[in-house]
Amino acid sequence: MSVTATQPTGSAANADHEAFLEVDDLRVHFPTDDGVVKSVDGITFSLEKGQTLGIVGESGSGKSVTSQAVLGLHRRTNAKMSGRIALDGQDLLTLPEAEMRHLRGNKMAMVFQDPLSALHPYYTVGSQLIEAYRVHHKSTAKKVAKSRAVDLLGRVGIPNPKRRVDQYPHEFSGGMRQRVMIAMALMNDPELLIADEPTTALDVTVQAQILDLMKDLQREFGSAIILITHDLGVVADIADDVLVMYAGRCVEQGTVDDLFYQPQHPYTVGLLGSMPRLDQVRQTRLDPIPGNPPSLINLPSGCKFNPRCPYTELVPDRLCFTEEPALAEAFPGHRSRCHIPPEERSVVFAEALSKRGDRADSIKGAADDRSRRTAETTRRDDADDRAVREPERGA
Ligand SMILES: Nc1ncnc2c1ncn2[C@@H]1O[C@H](COP(=O)(O)OP(=O)(O)OP(=O)(O)O)[C@@H](O)[C@H]1O
Ligand code: SF4
Ligand SMILES: [Mg+2]
Repeated sequence: MSVTATQPTGSAANADHEAFLEVDDLRVHFPTDDGVVKSVDGITFSLEKGQTLGIVGESGSGKSVTSQAVLGLHRRTNAKMSGRIALDGQDLLTLPEAEMRHLRGNKMAMVFQDPLSALHPYYTVGSQLIEAYRVHHKSTAKKVAKSRAVDLLGRVGIPNPKRRVDQYPHEFSGGMRQRVMIAMALMNDPELLIADEPTTALDVTVQAQILDLMKDLQREFGSAIILITHDLGVVADIADDVLVMYAGRCVEQGTVDDLFYQPQHPYTVGLLGSMPRLDQVRQTRLDPIPGNPPSLINLPSGCKFNPRCPYTELVPDRLCFTEEPALAEAFPGHRSRCHIPPEERSVVFAEALSKRGDRADSIKGAADDRSRRTAETTRRDDADDRAVREPERGA
C-alpha cells in the first residue's frame, strides 16, 4: 500500500521514507467575531505518486479547507495554520509566496467543482489554456502553447479539438466544460492533482466518464490525486485509500476495500448505510446519520461524534463524553478514532453492518456499472455538444 496513515513527525515510520505528499498534524483555524472556527484540527496523511486518496465527509467537515491548505490558498486569509505540508520534500507552509505561486498550476493543480465559474466567459477556451501554460513557461511561443492546448483537449475526449480550441465556454456542454477544466489542470503536467467534488454537478454517466478519464490520465502522467467527494460510490470507483473526515478531524483512514468491508468507526458505518443500492443508482449527497455535525467553534467535549453516536452507552465510565479517542491502529494500515476496542467492533457494529450487508457490494457494483456506460456517454456528450453548437451555426 502506498497511501498510508503516517505516524506523527519524527517517528521511525517517517524517518526511512518520505512520501511525495506528507501532511502532518495540519491545523487550520479561522479567528472570527464569534470565536475560533477550527476547520481542520490535526489531519495527518501521506500520498505517493500514481495513487489516489479519497477524502469523504459531510458538508463542513473540513475537506476543502484541507485541500486549499495544500495549495497555499489560505495565505491571503486570516487563517492560523500549523503542522507540516511537504511536497516532494519541500515544506510548503514556510515557502515564500512567489515559489508557492510557481508550484500552483505547475507541480500541483486543482479541478474545481463548477467549471463555469472557473472558466472566464469572455475568453476562448484556447486562450485560457494557453495562458495557464505560459504563466509557467514564459518563453514558450504562443503557437507551441496552442498546439499543446489542442493536444490536451483531444486527450480529454473533446472531438475536433483544433476547431473547439477557438470557441467560448458557453459553446461547450456541461460534461465537455468539465473536460476543459481537467485539460486546464493538466496543461503543466502536475504531479499532484486535487479534484474537489469534480463530478458533483454532473449526471451519473458523465461522472463515470470523467472518473475514467482521470484514471487514464493518472496512468499516463503518474500523478498523485486527492479526490474530495460526498459520494462513497465515487471513492469506490477511483481511490486507493480513503480518509473520512468529521468535525475537522480524521475519524477513519485505510484502504478502500478495508473501509467498505471492515469499517472501524460508527460514522463510517452510518455513511455506508446511507448509500443507495444498486437498483437505486443515482448521485446522492451523504446525509446519513440523525443529527447535525457540531459547531466548529463549540465542539462537544470527549469524542466529537458523541451527540450522534448510537453506541456511547457501551463504553464504560462515560468516556465518550470526557475523553477524545486518539486516532489509533485498528489493524495494520487502518486507523480509527473510537473508544470501542477494535476486537469488539465487528460484534458492536454487526446489526448496522448486516443492514449494510450487500450495500458495500452494491456501491462497488454501481461503480462498475457506471464504468460500463462510458461509451454511451461519449456519444451523448457529442450530441449535447452538437445541440449547443446548432444555434450558433443557424445565427
Ligand atoms: N475563511 C473562513 N472563515 C471562517 N470559517 C471558514 C472559512 N473557510 C471555511 N470555513 C469553515 O470551515 C468549515 C469547513 O469548511 P470546508 O469548506 O472545508 O467544508 P467541506 O468539508 O469542504 O464542506 P462541503 O462538502 O460543503 O464542501 C466550515 O464550517 C466552513 O464554514
Ligand atoms: S468514541 Fe464513543 S462516541 Fe465516539 S464514535 Fe466511539 S463509541 Fe461513538
Ligand atoms: Mg468543500
